[in-house]
Amino acid sequence: MYKAHILAVDDEPLICQVISEYLERIGYFCQPVIDATNALLELKRHPYDLIIIDIIMPGRDGIWLLNQVKTHFPEIAIIMLTAIHETQIAIDCLKMGAYDYLIKPIDFDKLALSIERALKKRHLELKVKEYQAHLEEMVTERTAQLKEAHEQLKQSQIEIIHRLAMAAEFKDIGTGAHIKRMSEYSAAIAKRFGMPPHRVELILYASPMHDIGKIGIPDYILLKEGKLTPEEWEIMKQHTTIGASILSGSKFELLRLAEVIALTHHERYDGKGYPRGLKGEDIPIEGRIVALADAFDALTSKRPYKPALPIEKTIDIIKEERGRQFDPHIVDVFLDMIEEILSIKEKYKDEYFT
Ligand SMILES: [Fe+2]
Ligand SMILES: [Fe+2]
Repeated sequence: MYKAHILAVDDEPLICQVISEYLERIGYFCQPVIDATNALLELKRHPYDLIIIDIIMPGRDGIWLLNQVKTHFPEIAIIMLTAIHETQIAIDCLKMGAYDYLIKPIDFDKLALSIERALKKRHLELKVKEYQAHLEEMVTERTAQLKEAHEQLKQSQIEIIHRLAMAAEFKDIGTGAHIKRMSEYSAAIAKRFGMPPHRVELILYASPMHDIGKIGIPDYILLKEGKLTPEEWEIMKQHTTIGASILSGSKFELLRLAEVIALTHHERYDGKGYPRGLKGEDIPIEGRIVALADAFDALTSKRPYKPALPIEKTIDIIKEERGRQFDPHIVDVFLDMIEEILSIKEKYKDEYFT
């Protein structure tokens, strides 16, 4: 059976000895010490469960020791045992964290009862602490697991979006490079434009779906090598509204933004775009950004029906279209960050995807 370790501090060696012998007799291990400084040294040397402290002692007194024990050994139970019969001091000691305040001459039965209760209380407190620590550990662990699961889910959703968008692009463009580049361009422009990070991230993941409506365009139009007839062109334009209806009605912010982008990425700043002929800032900002990113990539990429335009030529076209096809502010931001755009282009070359 475990013997609780008790440190008895009293400047009277005789009292120390009497307490010590009594406590040993009733089953405790007791170490007597005759002053506060030595008591602290002893506490540093060995683990104790309880300390009995006299108040009036030469050198440091018992109140000082009580404070030291509370600060440096908060898990040790404290009982004050003193000749000072003053209610206020007793209250102060209890407030400072002593478990009990006993008055001399020593009533040994009372002392034994007090020790027993203090140890019981201490044991319970330690158990609660242990349990709390265990709970905290469990919460930390579960939170990490949840975070990991959430991240996995997010990554899988992003991958599904890309693969779906690729399915729509695959027939006419052939690789996923276009959607990768145009979404990176779109996010980079949005960031430069000062949009908050969360919005930038949404644009990055929503813009790949801009042409998802091409799924609904017949192959003879989508893959036609020559010029489209006016009727065919009208059908081709419907990839915006088809895309928007595929994406419509979602409760998720990402898909709601994807719907907006699918619907508005062919609107023009001057109002001559499609499907609704929206003008200027009536076109949602994300639609205006994607319009430029999409066009830039289309112009600078090789397609089955056309070669890639050189960068200088593309920049000339974009400048000409400033305020016509494209939002002038977005064009300015874009030209300002052309180095960054070109490094994205370099990073996601067509070969990277084939
Ligand atoms: Fe499109
Ligand atoms: Fe596109």
